[in-house]
Amino acid sequence: MDAKLPPYTTARAAPRPQFARLAALVALALIGSASFLFNVGSSAAGGTAHTVPINAQAILATCAALHAPVEVPRNFAARDRSDRFEEGTKATLIKNATIWTGNDDGKEIIRGDILLDGGVIRHVGKFSRSLLPESAVFNVVDAKGGWVTPGQVIGLKLAIVDLHSHIGVGSSPHLNGASDTNSRHGITQPWLRALDGLNTHDASFELSISGGVTSSLILPGSANAIGKWRGQGFPIKLRATKERSPFSKLIEPAFTFNGSGIEPVYPPRWRYLKQACGENPSRVYSGTRMDNIYSMRAAYNEARKVKEKQDEYCLNAQAGQWNDLGEFPESLQWEALVEVLRGRVKVNNHCYEAVDLDGIVRLANEFHFHIEAFHHAHETYLVPDLLKKMYGGPPASALFATHARYKREAYRGSEFAPKILHDNGLRVVMKSDHPVLDSRFLLFEAQQAHFYGLPWNVALASVTTTPADLLGLSHRIGSIRKGHDADIVLWDTHPLVLPATPRQVFIDGIPQLKHDKLPESKPAELQNLPKTPDFEEEAKAAVEYEGLPPLTPKKSVKGAVLFTNVATVWNHEGAEFTAQSLSRPSNVVVRAGKVECVGACAQFAGQAEETVDLAGGALAPSLITYGSTVGLQEIPAESTMSDGSAPDALRGPIPDIVGGDGTLIRAVDGLQFAGRDALIAYLSGVSTAVTAPVHSGLIGGLSVAFSLGAPYKLAKGAVQKRVVALHASINKGSAVSISTQISALRRLLLGNGPGDAGKYFKLASGGGIPLVVDVHGADEIATLLELKAEVEKALDGKIKLVLAGATEAHLVAPEIAAADVGVFITRTRPFPSQWSQRRLLPGQPLSDRNAVEVLLAHNVTVAVGEGDKALTRNARFDLGWIYHESAGRLSKKDVIALATSNAASLLGLEDALSTGDMVVYRGGDIFELSAKAVGTVSGNRGLVDIF
Ligand SMILES: *[C@@H]1O[C@H](CO)[C@@H](O)[C@H](O)[C@H]1NC(C)=O
Ligand SMILES: *[C@@H]1O[C@H](CO)[C@@H](O)[C@H](O)[C@H]1NC(C)=O
Ligand SMILES: *[C@@H]1O[C@H](CO)[C@@H](O)[C@H](O)[C@H]1NC(C)=O
Repeated sequence: MDAKLPPYTTARAAPRPQFARLAALVALALIGSASFLFNVGSSAAGGTAHTVPINAQAILATCAALHAPVEVPRNFAARDRSDRFEEGTKATLIKNATIWTGNDDGKEIIRGDILLDGGVIRHVGKFSRSLLPESAVFNVVDAKGGWVTPGQVIGLKLAIVDLHSHIGVGSSPHLNGASDTNSRHGITQPWLRALDGLNTHDASFELSISGGVTSSLILPGSANAIGKWRGQGFPIKLRATKERSPFSKLIEPAFTFNGSGIEPVYPPRWRYLKQACGENPSRVYSGTRMDNIYSMRAAYNEARKVKEKQDEYCLNAQAGQWNDLGEFPESLQWEALVEVLRGRVKVNNHCYEAVDLDGIVRLANEFHFHIEAFHHAHETYLVPDLLKKMYGGPPASALFATHARYKREAYRGSEFAPKILHDNGLRVVMKSDHPVLDSRFLLFEAQQAHFYGLPWNVALASVTTTPADLLGLSHRIGSIRKGHDADIVLWDTHPLVLPATPRQVFIDGIPQLKHDKLPESKPAELQNLPKTPDFEEEAKAAVEYEGLPPLTPKKSVKGAVLFTNVATVWNHEGAEFTAQSLSRPSNVVVRAGKVECVGACAQFAGQAEETVDLAGGALAPSLITYGSTVGLQEIPAESTMSDGSAPDALRGPIPDIVGGDGTLIRAVDGLQFAGRDALIAYLSGVSTAVTAPVHSGLIGGLSVAFSLGAPYKLAKGAVQKRVVALHASINKGSAVSISTQISALRRLLLGNGPGDAGKYFKLASGGGIPLVVDVHGADEIATLLELKAEVEKALDGKIKLVLAGATEAHLVAPEIAAADVGVFITRTRPFPSQWSQRRLLPGQPLSDRNAVEVLLAHNVTVAVGEGDKALTRNARFDLGWIYHESAGRLSKKDVIALATSNAASLLGLEDALSTGDMVVYRGGDIFELSAKAVGTVSGNRGLVDIF
């Protein structure tokens, strides 16, 4: 067995990219080891004499390492210092906390203390100071103040893990010099590494940490118009490191990446691969789904051949068949896929539809590898049995909660998917796809999943323990246990309550929020697991109708409707609403869309066509949404399902037949009714949308106000106002300079423009129609304020100017107020997508106040909207967020005004909305998570819709 080796100088053969060097290290480590068991030496296999090559030991070490499984190093849990420990980090004792540990299927909650030291969790449970040496230097964080509702959950802790992020590779703000998510050089490129594009200066690192996100799997892209479809991903910690390098952010990088290749002491570590199928790869490479799957099969086939050659080579080497053995077979391009076939790579697959999921399940079964998770996965809930057929067990689904319908693949996406998958025994992860969604608010995805039926423990696990497990890193992140990384978040509410916000975030034991004092918890009523509505029926329908359940109201009643058990009624005067809390549950009678009686209402006995029990619910204002393309686009990526884009006069020419340079487009002419996002918003409490023509140039056109619940354009009350406002957009980075755009606006406003555009801008100069300008940067806003003053002086008029988007408006709040200009914030939780948004006011915990509050404090008329049409449904959550963040500084009425009367006043819609349409909630009032919208009362349309 233990053959003598030839004289040994160096294990280094001809330099080869990886294995030789790696093997050399191992071989060196093994020399002299008595337990070296390979059959090496001058042997006589099959009667032929074999000459043992000089690097035989290296070859044998390489061969031995081929089959080593990925494992957690022995005694890992006993470590008292993390490999990520930063010298000088003080120990921290977090006292008196309610700890959601992630153990016991996510159901374990313990009251006690946590000791963080050496970058790891050293103790969980009761802990006494006397257990530490007298000399120990440590911080004490007392989690108590304001957390307590005796006997109940008072404040849970978890650090969020994001399984799908492009943070650092799709950097924010977006700059041409840092666009590193995708390569244009081919369809199947498993050799690319996201690490090579990881920009440590992405502004979102700090923001995401402030939302409690501590770790993310950074994946190469797959969703841009230009893209590459595979490449290697890397789990990172988001915190800044002393070394300031991308590499120092990595969690347990495989030894391939740090130059060791094979480590003699440690077992191999996980690697990560991203694959994509469906529209993205097909669209970009003008191929089809068939081309894409074939390219993957061809790639895996190459990898299979390399793997088989390696195995054959090693069998020969291990049998002492050295003659003509040649070089160890390897391929720089396919090595990552060879590792996949060896089961040492966690494969994450961007994949949406049944057709694509099927293709990938067959691919995995053909080549015998496993997919950890399908990402986006909008149709996995429709094909649970297909998933269960996958080699190595069913993959998890990494989902958005409600972001859907942006392309065909996402059209059947359902908010009930997490619940349905879980009910089928399949695992669910909520993910951000940052910056598609801002990972800072990943917990909101879990909160929504819970709202729509995912059990609470599974919802919390979906952003902590489950992604950690899918990363193969559950030995160090995703739950709170002794020996785990010291990644801990202290929340100010129950984490499934909106808007749970970190009071402090520890990563590797280092506090990330730089405040002197721990912020207070929110009030006691926000410290309990929220009750959520029953959506069983809706979830069933989602599956029954293959993702397209009917969304039209069940009934439209023109006669009397009796609502019983009503706790709150919001009364209106014009577009303004005030709450009337009823001293005891009352009846409300509504006829032809108007409230006729609140109280006992005995005189209506027997007259009701319909009776609805609201179980302590409310009749609350129906909301207006502004800023999205709802009503003009069904699937934005589908040209035949959208109105299209208005022409840009600055990059003309526009054909004379539509008016040449003076063309002005009206959104009302392109309206489509009964779209899915429109109806979903309607069923969620949003009844009116104001939509401007889709445009990419300076001149936007004329917006329309319409009823989201109307069946078609000519139905009564469907179009609420045909022409609402005149729209323009200041576009930084477009082919036309900002100064040119301002110059064009000046000419138009001074009355020197041609055609319809000239006519309407002149009207706007005299205040005859609101002028809404999409703009973000404080400098551009300032320029618009100057322009307004200049035009008003020249024409002696008054422009009704509204700034929309307006991320940096808080910086010029006094000037905006002085100029009597309104603001429409269309992303209430701001994000620095562009440079001109970099000075956003983040809100808690990074700033006490958000932009809405600052502007209101300056007496600016502020309204809020939503830019993404699939998210218009979340209006009541967005408002509730602002309400709770204000901690009493804003009343419910102030906050509701942001999406009702303030919006109406900025857009001149008071008359159109004077009937005060209302939404009927069962189980609570508008901001409460227990409440579910079950109908609308529409004075406009003269009816009550029952959902
Ligand atoms: C924990 O905090 C609560 C609330 O402040 C307090 O009532 C309780 O006594 C504290 N428990 C300990 C062990 O300090
Ligand atoms: C790679 O990382 C391992 C584990 O931390 C370490 O033991 C090894 O020395 C590193 N290799 C190099 C070349 O730095
Ligand atoms: C806003 O208006 C209120 C009421 O009119 C007034 O008391 C307050 O001083 C104003 N605030 C500012 C910043 O102008």
